[in-house]
Amino acid sequence: MVLNAIANRKSVRVYSNKVVDDFTVKSIIEAGIMAPSWVNVQPWHFIVVRDDAKKELLSQASGGQQQVKNASALICCVADMTAWEDEKFSKVMEKQGRNEAVRNYILNSEMLNPSRLGAVETLLRTVEQITYAIGYMTLRAEELGVGCCIVGAVANELTQAQGSDIGSSVKEILGLNDKQVLHSILTLGYEDEKKPTVKSRKDFDEVVSYEVLGQRFQ
Ligand SMILES: Cc1cc2nc3c(=O)[nH]c(=O)nc-3n(C[C@H](O)[C@H](O)[C@H](O)COP(=O)(O)O)c2cc1C
Repeated sequence: MVLNAIANRKSVRVYSNKVVDDFTVKSIIEAGIMAPSWVNVQPWHFIVVRDDAKKELLSQASGGQQQVKNASALICCVADMTAWEDEKFSKVMEKQGRNEAVRNYILNSEMLNPSRLGAVETLLRTVEQITYAIGYMTLRAEELGVGCCIVGAVANELTQAQGSDIGSSVKEILGLNDKQVLHSILTLGYEDEKKPTVKSRKDFDEVVSYEVLGQRFQ
């Protein structure tokens, strides 16, 4: 079943008028929050947007991408660096039953806690974690027959456009602080059957090796 969803999932950018209801949106997000993450820190937040004016602004912030404007619902995927703050990180570890000594060890470890290294490392790790959740959501959407597209080209700290007016407006309408980055937008809608997309990939041998890069996996 998982393989079916993996094989059939593709980016869908043109939608019919059919609404993706809240129950379905919730189910897609629930798959995302089941994703694994570094020390289970879960540094993400998902904001569902249906409001037309917000969709319009987010479409502008993504260079005018129409699927953002035309989607039935958007899941704004926020990379939340505040999750690594000592108090929050400790709380999540406590919930998993880690004792105080272990929690303190992890909190003070440069290997295990990127916030001990710096802002760039923390951003990288946070982005790393949220991509798993987004991947899971795309598979759940596929399973539910909902088309989706990850929109990563958006005015944010990763595209260096966060200082722009549009980048600031996005942060404001979503209620984000400077440690919360709109990583991407997952657009949701039912595919317009008249305009299906096709999926293509590099050949297996081009991206897979055995033992050493370049040696063929027979
Ligand atoms: C991190 C990330 C960001 C992406 N950003 C965009 C985007 O801004 N706009 C878009 O149309 N597609 C975007 N995509 C979708 C890719 O273009 C798409 O996954 C790729 O072309 C492969 O096609 P498929 O998803 O149909 O298999 C993004 C995908 C990923 C993983």
